[in-house]
Amino acid sequence: MSFYPTLRLRRLRYNPILRDMVRETELQKNDLIYPLFVRPGENIKTEIKSMPGVFQMSIDILVKECKEVRDLGIPAVILFGIPEHKDEKGSEAYDPNGIIQRAIRAIKAEVKDLLVITDVCLCEYTSHGHCGLLNGEEILNDETVSLLAKEAVSHAEAGADIIAPSDMMDGRVAAIRKALDYKGFQNIPIMSYAVKYASGYYGPFRDAAESTPTFGDRRSHQMDVANSNEAIREADLDVDEGADIIMVKPAGAYLDIIYRVKEEYQMPTAAYQVSGEYSMIKAAGQLDWIDEERVMIESLVAIKRAGADMILTYFAKDAAKYIDRIRK
Ligand code: PBG
Ligand code: ZN
Repeated sequence: MSFYPTLRLRRLRYNPILRDMVRETELQKNDLIYPLFVRPGENIKTEIKSMPGVFQMSIDILVKECKEVRDLGIPAVILFGIPEHKDEKGSEAYDPNGIIQRAIRAIKAEVKDLLVITDVCLCEYTSHGHCGLLNGEEILNDETVSLLAKEAVSHAEAGADIIAPSDMMDGRVAAIRKALDYKGFQNIPIMSYAVKYASGYYGPFRDAAESTPTFGDRRSHQMDVANSNEAIREADLDVDEGADIIMVKPAGAYLDIIYRVKEEYQMPTAAYQVSGEYSMIKAAGQLDWIDEERVMIESLVAIKRAGADMILTYFAKDAAKYIDRIRK
C-alpha cells in the first residue's frame, strides 16, 4: 500500500481527458428503456400534470414517438395502456383488440429495430384499480395469475418482444413461462419485476396510467420498503421460475438492493427509475433549485454503478440526447 505524499489521488483528476479515461461507469444508450402511455382515440397527446414532458398518446402519435425514440438510438420501449373500458376483471388487459395489443401491432408494422416490452398487470384495466381479481377486499393470487398468463400470451400474439410482469402475485413467472411456451413463444424473454416495493414514488404514474386504487393500497402484494433479505427471496423465486431478466423497482432509493441482487445472481438486471424519481428531479429543475440535466445523469450513472444493466427511465430521450452531445 502506498501513502501520501507518494500517493496523490488528485493526479488523475486534473486533466479532463484523463478523467474520461479512468471513468469506471459510462452510461450508454443501450442501457435505456423508455416507458410510454397509450390511450384510445386519435391525434391525442396529453401531458401528465405531475410528469412534465411525459404524455398519454393515442396510437397514431405513439407510432411517431417510437420512430423518434428509435432514431435517437434507444433500443427499447415499455408500454402501459389506458383502456377504453375498465371492469372488475380487467377484461381489456387480455382482449386481442385491447389498447396495448393494437398499439403493439401498429408499432411493429411501422417501426423497425425497436424492441417492444409490455407491462403485464391488471391495475390499469380494473374498475377498482387493483392488480388482480378481488374477493371482497382481498386480491386473489392464483385466479389473478391465470389472467396474467392470458394477458402475456395476448401481448406475445400481438408481437411483443419481451413480457414484463409487474403484478407481484406469487407464481406468475412460472405460469406466464408455461403459457408462452405452450403457445409457441419459447423465445420470448420474461423481464420480471422481481423486487418491487410498495413505494410512494409511484404517485405520478397513477395519474399517468389512471390506475389509483379506489380503496386500500398495494401493500398486500408489493414489498415492505424496509426489507432487504426478502428481496433475495423474491428474486430467487423469479429466477427459479424462469425469469430471463430481473428488475428492481424503484431504483434511486434502492441502490443497495440493486447491488445485492446483481452480486447474488449475476443475472441481466434492470432497474426502474420510477415516476416519482423523475418528477422530483424535474420539479426541482424547473424551480432552478438543481441543475436538472446534471442530476438526471448523476441519478442514472448511480443506478448503473450499483449494478443495473438496463434502466427504465422517463429521462431516456433526454439522456440519449445528452450522450450524443458529449460523445460527438
Ligand atoms: C403496474 C405498474 C406500476 C408501475 C409500473 N407498473 C404502478 C404500481 O405498481 O402502482 C410504476 C411505474 C412508475 O411509477 O413510474 N403495476
Ligand atoms: Zn398493478
